[in-house]
Amino acid sequence: MKVYPTSSTIHTVNASRIQMVDNLITFIREANELLQKELDLSPANQLVTRIISQLSLQLRSHYSPEEIQTVLSNDYIRMNQRNLQDKLSEAECLVELSDSRDICKSESSVLDILTKLPYWNIYKALVSQELTRLRQFIREDVQTEKLPIIFVGSGPMPLSPIILHLLGDVKIICLEMDSAAYDASCILLERLGLEDNVTVVMGNGSEFDYSSYRQIFVASLVRNKKEVLEQIIRTNSDPLVAVRTAEGMKKIMYESIDESQLNKQGWRILGRTCPEENLVINSTLFLERGTNPR
Ligand SMILES: C[S@@+](CC[C@H](N)C(=O)[O-])C[C@H]1O[C@@H](n2cnc3c(N)ncnc32)[C@H](O)[C@@H]1O
Repeated sequence: MKVYPTSSTIHTVNASRIQMVDNLITFIREANELLQKELDLSPANQLVTRIISQLSLQLRSHYSPEEIQTVLSNDYIRMNQRNLQDKLSEAECLVELSDSRDICKSESSVLDILTKLPYWNIYKALVSQELTRLRQFIREDVQTEKLPIIFVGSGPMPLSPIILHLLGDVKIICLEMDSAAYDASCILLERLGLEDNVTVVMGNGSEFDYSSYRQIFVASLVRNKKEVLEQIIRTNSDPLVAVRTAEGMKKIMYESIDESQLNKQGWRILGRTCPEENLVINSTLFLERGTNPR
């Protein structure tokens, strides 16, 4: 016999969901206040590491569209989201920088260490999904498939570019604007013996000339995606862009693309990859030049 919930059980469930959303907003506020106050956002600061992993875990839970809307439209969240993302992005880059330097100090095989990292499989799942979609959009155009891919915002430990190269058998040009991240990634790639196939260029994605490339990736932690996309469309006549964005509650952590503006900015959405629950946190949008004149 099927048991239907009574109105009082529905009421209790709703009340506890409302309380849970309130608690989440309070927690995001506490996390933001802590991150704004702490001077050291490196992994050496355990307070910072702990609060970020709690936040990340909470944002990966399942929420209804209404709950997401309630959190994202909360006044405190709206006013502080950008500053919170800046701190989270700084902390994530510092973790990568520290990991990258530690790995390079080790005597063991760098590739062995990388493939045993807890997040290696997450990156592999994400990049493999992206590569499959990208190949569908270039429609078996062998010429394009073999052209180097440019990856904007590769970071101190360019796992996505490395995996793109290994899975796609294609040269990757990494674009990185931070000098510490640039140095660390060059050393890591040299230790991997990949320096001829995955090369790093120092520069900002919002100023780079993309005219020699067709396939362009934009990392999720790139902080000025709108300007980067503007520069791509300004300098490239036929770009195929894979830009990582965030959906739902994950917009708290990562800068998302305002899809309602893309058409006006000259883009057409070709497709997307979707996050896999508890594995891949980002989704990726695939863009090409639209018919709408700019
Ligand atoms: C921490 S990494 C993340 C990349 C990640 N390791 C991956 O493989 O996907 C993000 C990097 O993007 C860089 N970055 C952010 N905005 C950028 C831009 N507009 N141009 C170039 N690099 C950028 C930051 O300096 C940072 O090192």
